[in-house]
Amino acid sequence: MTLPNTVTVECDILIIGGGMSGCGAAFESKFWGRDLRVVMVEKAAIERSGATGEGLSAINCYMGQRYGWNTPEDFVRYVVNDMMGLAREDLVYDVGRHVDSSVHLFEEWGLPIWKKDNGEYERIGRWQIPIHGESIKPIAAEPARKALGADNLIERVSITHLLTAEDDPGRIAGAIGFGVRDTNIYVFKAKAVIVTTGGASNVFRPRSTGEGLGRTWYSVFATGSAYGLMIPVGTEMTQMEHRFVPTRFKDGYGPVGMWFQYFHARVTNALGEDYTVTRADELLKYAPYGLAIPTPTPLRNHQMFLDIRAGLGPMYMRTEEAMQKLAAGDPARMEKVREEAWEDFLDMTISQALTWASQNIAPEVRPSEVVLAEPYIMGSHSGEAGAWVSGPEDVAPPEYFWGYNKMTTLRGLFAAGDGVGAAPHKFSSGSFTEGRLAAKAAVRYALDHPTAPVPDRGMVQRLQQSIWAPLNTFAQYRGLSTAEEVNPHYITPKQGLVRLQKIMDEYAGGTSAWYTTNAPTLQRGIELIELLRADLQHLAARSQHELLRCWELWHRTWVGEAHMRHMLFRQETRWPGYYYRADFPALDDVNWRVFANSRYDATSDRWELMTRPYIHVVT
Ligand code: FAD
Ligand code: ADX
Repeated sequence: MTLPNTVTVECDILIIGGGMSGCGAAFESKFWGRDLRVVMVEKAAIERSGATGEGLSAINCYMGQRYGWNTPEDFVRYVVNDMMGLAREDLVYDVGRHVDSSVHLFEEWGLPIWKKDNGEYERIGRWQIPIHGESIKPIAAEPARKALGADNLIERVSITHLLTAEDDPGRIAGAIGFGVRDTNIYVFKAKAVIVTTGGASNVFRPRSTGEGLGRTWYSVFATGSAYGLMIPVGTEMTQMEHRFVPTRFKDGYGPVGMWFQYFHARVTNALGEDYTVTRADELLKYAPYGLAIPTPTPLRNHQMFLDIRAGLGPMYMRTEEAMQKLAAGDPARMEKVREEAWEDFLDMTISQALTWASQNIAPEVRPSEVVLAEPYIMGSHSGEAGAWVSGPEDVAPPEYFWGYNKMTTLRGLFAAGDGVGAAPHKFSSGSFTEGRLAAKAAVRYALDHPTAPVPDRGMVQRLQQSIWAPLNTFAQYRGLSTAEEVNPHYITPKQGLVRLQKIMDEYAGGTSAWYTTNAPTLQRGIELIELLRADLQHLAARSQHELLRCWELWHRTWVGEAHMRHMLFRQETRWPGYYYRADFPALDDVNWRVFANSRYDATSDRWELMTRPYIHVVT
């Protein structure tokens, strides 16, 4: 068996992931911890990594406090309603009160924000402002890179596991991973670790299979690592049953927010009916949340879902109607509207512009099909899966506070962005902000705990071998069959991924199951995913690139298992339009307006599920 070289990096604070929240954490930690060594490790290159790598068309989380638009309290009320009554008010408030300052920094660093004639920011919806956002990621990355210094930004290294302290499994001591472009294992030793490794796409079988495999709405590089790193070391997780099912332009996965809110387009069915009108009464069943304005995201889905299930599709985004209305017969105005329509996708989801071009769709002439996409597990958009973290000291009630803002239940382990649960609607700006807040607290933690913990040596040795094992498995067995993909001794990461997606799709309420499941179906799904987890010991990798795919699959599998176990635990249908528990079809505020939490214990290979109370912070 060949073993790689090991490179050891020692630092005070380790930031894992250089996406939106990671860049925020890097920038802020050097402000407060000037004399500390802060290292950021990223599996790609931070100028284009993560969910904002292909650009954005809006900042979706902005209060506009200086214009008197909204207060952080307004934001909390909106988020709680949108999540059908469940979000951590202290965490949402914390993002809301600080997010505007991050947006103003983006502008200072060069982000072009659309302006009105009076110099005020243009608005899309209540919380969203439009940007020329193709380059938002390099703009956020530059200050992070500068703050860290060249020696402290380690790119092209993928982290596979967190390391706990030798004398204390409840304390974090570092992380381990491997170089995707070299043959080194990297061991990081740190006093505090901030996990910012993003959400999870491709856990469920996507609508685009075969011909379109690789096209999903959320970044295909969002591999569930935030959860896959934290779950195995026993971090308490929250709301892992929660998911985001986005309404998206069909096949190109173009987002819809700009179309609904800026262009004021309607979606109509094949009969030309608008489900928000014909299905308005459906919302009454979900009062008080159903009566909120705007209608909560899952319920908007639910109304459309009822039309689709009734066979009234295809559903069309009426781009032509909206654009013609905005242009009002003026060719010059139409030219501007057309430019804005194309820019929305060219800035953010180029594939949608390509879909239009390839299907001869002029959006001012023809409407476009929209669908409900496959589920994504995430914590920064309209989804709230993630770690159960401490709230801020001045706002969090004692039940939600254990010393350091954004610290998980493992001492010294912090999270931000998609990695923090029950704190949704952060988007790009809020994730960056949450990274800043986590970093400030991590600096305090590192200063309060100056003695560096020693990573568990047995754990490091075991992991050094198992991280590399897929390459060795392939080398050992490759000659025993004529086709590399077919071998009785191993499975490839792609085979494993397809198997995971099939389980999730069919048992955990994916698109082919009409987002519907029940207890026996989930129990069977959990049995199958346990078998998959056992078989992942036999993964084989033909290259460093496939080794990366192997460990991404491990992380996605942890996400899938946690998702199913949480769905089984929550005995209600709280988010119709996201998923339906056929055996508990109603929302049950009396018993289930609580957070569903879990902890995995590696020693016994058992999961513990429990509830945590909902405590109002904002009236
Ligand atoms: P990310 O920004 O995804 O960062 C995660 C980072 O971790 C990445 O750099 C990744 O490479 C790295 N990483 C992952 N695993 C590992 C590992 N194992 N080891 C090392 N590094 C790792 N938001 C808006 O505000 N406005 C919009 O218009 C908007 N539109 C969007 C459109 C699309 C198509 C998408 C995909 C997202 C959009 N968002 C938008 C949402 C926004 O991108 C996310 O909310 C935000 O990026 C989440 O930040 P994060 O730091 O949690 O994750
Ligand atoms: S994006 O992040 O990929 O751009 P999307 O386009 O769905 O997502 O949403 C952008 C923003 O618009 C989010 O804040 C979302 O909650 C909001 N949004 C989308 N559709 C609507 C709608 N019909 N009503 C109110 N808000 C909406």
